[in-house]
Amino acid sequence: MNAPEPGLPMAVPAKGLPARVRVHEVGARDGLQNEKAMVPTAVKAEFVRRLAGTGLTTIEATSFVHPKWVPQLADAEELFPAVADLPVELPVLVPNERGLERALALGARRVAVFASATESFARANLNRTVDEALAMFEPVVSRAKASGVHVRGYLSMCFGDPWEGPVPVPQVVRVCRALLDMGCDELSLGDTIGVATPGHVTALLTALTGAGVPVSALGVHFHDTYGQALANTLAALQQGVTTVDASAGGLGGCPFAKSATGNLATEDLVWMLRGLGIDTGVDLGRLVATSVWMAAHLGRPSPSRTVRALSHQES
Ligand code: HMG
Ligand code: MG
Repeated sequence: MNAPEPGLPMAVPAKGLPARVRVHEVGARDGLQNEKAMVPTAVKAEFVRRLAGTGLTTIEATSFVHPKWVPQLADAEELFPAVADLPVELPVLVPNERGLERALALGARRVAVFASATESFARANLNRTVDEALAMFEPVVSRAKASGVHVRGYLSMCFGDPWEGPVPVPQVVRVCRALLDMGCDELSLGDTIGVATPGHVTALLTALTGAGVPVSALGVHFHDTYGQALANTLAALQQGVTTVDASAGGLGGCPFAKSATGNLATEDLVWMLRGLGIDTGVDLGRLVATSVWMAAHLGRPSPSRTVRALSHQES
């Protein structure tokens, strides 16, 4: 046991967990895509810069989607060049070849396609069936790979869907396999509406590894609607997952799934990992300061318990 530094938990490692976790920060994309008010491009760029200053190494910057579908990120052409000099990975979402072309034209080196395990969300989010969406992604993935660009495949509604209810594990495994077979380098398993619980997470990860999916290719992406995101993350770490998505201050949601709330807050994640003695390279104090700064711009306090505890932010 190590004595805690001020503002940090005591580090007490537990058996069977990884030594290091890569945090995939999604606040600037998943967080800001859902804001009612338009956040000025300069504020977004400053947010990404401050996040990079906390030690985060992967910061999802924006989406090259149809600007009418997600007006909050319609400034991708202005934002990306404003942060492209940062010494961090800056993945961007691209739904189709048009999105890929826009991203490649600006020099993006990491892109993400985003599939759905359910038909209802594929229709709501992509205006396609699940298989039509996969067909739309195939040329995106092959062209990105041919350009040496890293491809993440998101899969939404891996646990439950607001229209269809609980999602059967084999249905999720099928789409995961399809994304990997088309050449995605990694997958992110999305609990878009935050209904997963730890046993379900363990069951899905066990089924995926049983189907030949290497755990090193899997990340987890939990929204925190029912306060289960940290427990779900711990269950995933116990299965060997070392990539965890989170959003600074717990920003987030999806405009096409009404019950989606914010993501797991990066501060809550870093606090738990630090307590477990797991290295993330993230400076928690700087991260909290960044979320407090962003909350002031958004005009409301961060929902993160850790941000509140460490900043004495008014609730
Ligand atoms: P569509 O209406 O079917 O588009 O939308 P289309 O393919 O029929 O094209 C119609 C027009 O849009 C054409 O223009 C295209 O050029 C243009 P026209 O020829 O008529 O003048 N267009 C574009 N313009 C700019 N950039 C583009 C683009 N694509 C087409 N990329 C589409 C289909 C996929 C485009 C649309 O549904 C879309 O943009 N969806 C994005 C939805 C989205 O961003 N959702 C949030 C991200 S997913 C998420 O948050 C979940 C996640 O966090 C994980 C989790 O929590 O589960 C990742
Ligand atoms: Mg999400």
